[in-house]
Amino acid sequence: MTKIVDIPEWRTLQKNAGAIGGSTMRDLFERDPDRSRRFALSAAGLFLDFSKNKISDEILKNLLALATARGLEARRDAMFAGEKINETEDRAVLHVALRAGADANYTAAGAPVSALVNDELARMKRFADAVHGGKLTGRTGKALTTVVNIGIGGSDLGPLMVVEALRPYWIDGRRSYFVSNVDGQHLADTLAAVDPETTLFIIASKTFTTQETLANAHSAKDWFLKAGASEADVAKHFIALSTNEKAVTEFGIDPQNMFRFWDWVGGRYSLWSAIGLSIALQVGFADFEKLLAGARAMDTHFKTAPLSENMPALLALVGVWNRNFQNIRAHAVLPYDQHLHRLPAYLQQADMESNGKRVGSDGAPVAHETGPVLFGEPGTNGQHAFYQLLHQGTDIVSADFIAAANNAVELGDHHQLLLANFLAQTEALMRGKNEPEVRAELAADGMTPADVDRLAPHKVFPGGRPTNSILMERLTPQTLGALLALYEHKIFCQGVIWGVNSFDQWGVELGKALATSILPEIAGAGEGRPAATAHDSSTNGLIDWINAARAPKS
Ligand code: F6P
Repeated sequence: MTKIVDIPEWRTLQKNAGAIGGSTMRDLFERDPDRSRRFALSAAGLFLDFSKNKISDEILKNLLALATARGLEARRDAMFAGEKINETEDRAVLHVALRAGADANYTAAGAPVSALVNDELARMKRFADAVHGGKLTGRTGKALTTVVNIGIGGSDLGPLMVVEALRPYWIDGRRSYFVSNVDGQHLADTLAAVDPETTLFIIASKTFTTQETLANAHSAKDWFLKAGASEADVAKHFIALSTNEKAVTEFGIDPQNMFRFWDWVGGRYSLWSAIGLSIALQVGFADFEKLLAGARAMDTHFKTAPLSENMPALLALVGVWNRNFQNIRAHAVLPYDQHLHRLPAYLQQADMESNGKRVGSDGAPVAHETGPVLFGEPGTNGQHAFYQLLHQGTDIVSADFIAAANNAVELGDHHQLLLANFLAQTEALMRGKNEPEVRAELAADGMTPADVDRLAPHKVFPGGRPTNSILMERLTPQTLGALLALYEHKIFCQGVIWGVNSFDQWGVELGKALATSILPEIAGAGEGRPAATAHDSSTNGLIDWINAARAPKS
C-alpha cells in the first residue's frame, strides 16, 4: 500500500517547506499585508486568524489537496452517516448526534439513535429540574445542593472543564466537585468539604469497570453509610451515568437512577451525553442545551462548508503543516480566560488519546509523525512560566491563543490588560526582534558598545513561532460549545490525514493490566514480604523499596 509520505500531495508540501524555508514570517507579512484577511474566517460565533503560520496561498492550496487526496470529505460524511469508522472497536462515532436537536434523525450503523438521545435528554432535564425545584431531595428532606462527580478521563475532564468555564452561569447556592484520582486524598479532601445530607454523588463511567472510579465510588458509598444513612437511602444520593446497566446494578444503583449513553459515544467525546448531567445541575438545563446548540452550529458548519472555508479542516491542516512539514513537536493551548483553565487538560485527552498513535488504521506503522505533545495554561500565567521557551527555546512550539473580547467581569481595566497581552504575545512570537533592532535599542538606552556586544545575543527573539488566534465576543454556553466542537472536528480531520483511528485508545491498556498484576505485591503493610522477582530489576527494586517504606516501624 502507498505510504502517505509517498503520495504526490505530500511530496509537493515537502518541496513547499523547502522553498518557504528562506523566508521569515515577518517577511511574509511585509510582502503581503493582506494575508491576515485571506487566512482568517468566522464560523458559529468564533473568529479564527491562522495567518501567523508559515504558510502561503500555494501551501494552503496544497494542504487542501492533501485533505482531498486523503478522502477527508468522504470520511466526514461517513462519520455523520453513523458508519463504523472506529474500526478497531467496530463502532460508529456519533457524538454529533448527541447535540443534533429535536428534529434530528441520526442512525448508528443503520439503527436509529436520535429518539434515544432525545428521550435521555428529556430524562436529564426532568431530573435536573426536580433537583433545582426541590422535588427531589436528600434522605432527610434537605435540598441536594452539592454534586460530587466521580469519574476519570472523559467522564471527568469534559464536565469539569465546562463547569469551570461557565462559572458566571452557575445557579446560586449550588456547588460541584469532581473526584477523579484514585489517590485517596482527592476523595477525602472532597468529602471533608461536603454534607452527606445535601450531596448527590454522580458515578460517571462509560464502562463502569474503571478501577479508579469504582474505588472512589465504593469509598464514597461507605462514607455515606457511615454518616448514618441506610442502604435504602443510597437511591436518593447516588446516580450513575453509563453504558453498562449490568455493572451499574451490581454496584447497587437502581437502573431507574441511571442515565444512559451508548457505545458510539467515545469517552473523550461524551460531555454532550448523560456525562454532562453535572453541567446541567450546576448551570441549569437551559444553558446545557445552549452548549449543545453551540456545538451543533459548528457541526453544521463542518458538515456543509467547503474545506477551503471550513474552520475545523483549516485548523487541522495548519496543524499538519506545522507537525509534518515544519517539524514542530509540541503544541500549546493558551486560553486568555481564567475560566478556561482546564481547557488544556481536557484537550490533552481529546487530542493525545485520539491521535497519539504510531500505527495506521491499516495496522502498519506510519512513516510520518502523528499527534504533537499538547500542553497549556491560561494566559497571562503561562507568560511568567514557560513562554521563555516559546520565545527563545531551541524547539519551536506552535500555539493556539484563545480569548473573548468581553469578560463576564469588567473589573477596572483588567480585561484590556488581558487582551493587550493576548495580542502582544502572538505578535512577538511571529515578529521576534532581530539583532540590529536589539543593538539599536540597547545603544539608545545609553549602553556601552561592550555591554551591547555582551547582551545583544540574549535579547534577540528569532520570531517565526506559529500561532492561531481564536476569538469570540464572549465566552457563553454557545460559544464554548462551538469551540469544543471545533477542536473535536480538528482532531478528527488530522486523524484522517494521518490515517490513524482517532477513536480507540489501546495505548492505555498495558499500564492498566500491569497495575492489576502488581497490586497484590504491594497490598498490605509490606512487612516480611519476600523480595519481588516477577519483573525487571528496576521494577522489582522499586516494589521492595516501597514495601520496606510501608512496613510498620518498630
Ligand atoms: O483509560 C482511558 C479511558 O478509557 C478513557 O478513554 C476514558 O475516558 C476513561 O478511561 C474513563 O473511562 P470510563 O468512562 O469507562 O470510566
